[in-house]
Amino acid sequence: MSFWDNFHKDHLIAAHRGDRYTSAENTMEAFENSIGKCDFVEFDVGFSKDGVAVILHDDTLERTSDADKLNGFYPPYNLYDYNYKQLLELNMDKRSTKKQQIPTLKETLLFFRSQNMPVNVEIKDLKKTKFDKIATKVVTETIKECDMIEMTMLSSFNHNYLREAKKISPQITTAALQEKKHPKECLKYLKELNVSSYNIDKTIMDKKIIQELKNEGIYTCVYTINSQKELKKAFSLGVEAVFTDYLEDMPL
Ligand code: G3P
Ligand code: MG
Repeated sequence: MSFWDNFHKDHLIAAHRGDRYTSAENTMEAFENSIGKCDFVEFDVGFSKDGVAVILHDDTLERTSDADKLNGFYPPYNLYDYNYKQLLELNMDKRSTKKQQIPTLKETLLFFRSQNMPVNVEIKDLKKTKFDKIATKVVTETIKECDMIEMTMLSSFNHNYLREAKKISPQITTAALQEKKHPKECLKYLKELNVSSYNIDKTIMDKKIIQELKNEGIYTCVYTINSQKELKKAFSLGVEAVFTDYLEDMPL
């Protein structure tokens, strides 16, 4: 059993950073609100100074939290400059006074396990940080520990992490994230990477490549699809899943 065996239909809808339309992105509330509205949920993983895997899209804290208003947090507000305990002081919902604490990878996975909801764990590219060497191991081991190997697609723009993950856990489903342009000899490259999915920016959707990959058993997923028109186009080109910010508008 692998990630793709969880679904018994084509044309899947993924919640991009949880239900980030009704809630603040990558928070437990966004994850709770996505249940029943999508086929799987995508979120991003980074690391605190003391090595706790936490859910955050950016390298820095100020866009999505009140870090710029609290004592003890200073520009450039790098995530990896703060210990997990300090990060718990933050409200990750800028739009509300109701505090949303930064979720850990472990609590997020356990929540989705309890809901029987498949996930896409995206490891941010940490090559400029000390976590580059341990990120894949920590994330993959946490997925295993939470009994989510068969319900997880692990993705990254850093394709070295995907190679590493397959070494640690050959069973895990991996996906290569790509933007701007396709790698040379795309199919050959992805086969060498041993990924089962190719997760691309919508600006580089290409019918010929999508079909060629599909014929070889590699699914294409596309981000970020936020209108019916884009949705129809993506699925007509043979895309398997789309990531969206607007779950309410997308048919399940
Ligand atoms: O995994 C799809 C998408 O989340 C990749 O881009 O920047 O939103 O993490 P980003
Ligand atoms: Mg992401």
